[in-house]
Amino acid sequence: MRFKNSTLHQQIRDLAKAKKAIILAHNYQPAEIQDVADLCGDSLEMSIKAAATDADIIVCCGVRFMAETAAILCPDKIVLMPNPDAGCPMADMVTPQELVKRKEELGGIPVITYVNSSAAVKAVSDICCTSANVIKVVNALKEDEVLMTPDRNLARYAAANTDKKVHLWQGYCPFHNDLSVEAVKAAKAAHPNALFVAHPECTPEVLKLADSIESTSGMIRFAGESSADQFILGTETGLIHAISKAYPEKTFFPVSDQLVCTDMKKTRLQDILDCLENMSGKVTVEEAIRIKAMDAVRKMINTK
Ligand code: 13P
Ligand code: SF4
Repeated sequence: MRFKNSTLHQQIRDLAKAKKAIILAHNYQPAEIQDVADLCGDSLEMSIKAAATDADIIVCCGVRFMAETAAILCPDKIVLMPNPDAGCPMADMVTPQELVKRKEELGGIPVITYVNSSAAVKAVSDICCTSANVIKVVNALKEDEVLMTPDRNLARYAAANTDKKVHLWQGYCPFHNDLSVEAVKAAKAAHPNALFVAHPECTPEVLKLADSIESTSGMIRFAGESSADQFILGTETGLIHAISKAYPEKTFFPVSDQLVCTDMKKTRLQDILDCLENMSGKVTVEEAIRIKAMDAVRKMINTK
């Protein structure tokens, strides 16, 4: 199906409408992908939207774990990933076998798994969390001791903000983990009137320098509610587009030009059009795994 005389953006919008598809994009996606999406958000907002949509097709512009989460929650829908090569290196730092073994070693304490993980890892977890709800999820568990996987920095952040004993898994985001204290100090010196907001995937040393610690969409909300008008963003540079669109009157600086997630930048407009035209890049999760993983994701969504 071809729509003549229209831009690629318009062709995608027309085709999405014709096929009753919803396009979800993560806040780190390239600007033109964010602009063509129906919803741009953090991992939690993407999961909630996927769970609630009445569209027939979900086009998930992000990395594989985000598309898998949509497939876990929506078995009756078709989930398409425009560029199926986009993965998350942190998600690959834990396997279900390793996790089951560690849980046994720790006497079967509950496992909280960051959504940045495979469906198979979620399936052997008690509950999931995102950067937006991690503290709420840890506090909602009745046990005093938990194992958190795969992000050690998110786990340390949770440990510092709850009374629970949090056992770490030694995973990390290669981009957030690489952000140095020196780089943050240099950005602060260059923009002395700006507040510094950091993602909990950054190291504890970096988080100590933050005025606020937030998920990506949490940063957008924080900027809106703050009386400050300049912010240094301690996260992936793609957020600059989303946050500048929300608050064009405020100024946002990336903490470092190096904080770029290569996988998040793999999606192209043409990929979206192609996947919708050809119904390619379908993401499915084996049913036995999906049922167990859905339990962990739903428990997270229902945590109040
Ligand atoms: P958010 O859930 O905060 O958007 O983060 C997802 C992610 O992959 C961060 O690196
Ligand atoms: Fe994974 Fe880091 Fe990229 Fe987020 S920014 S998707 S954690 S590699």
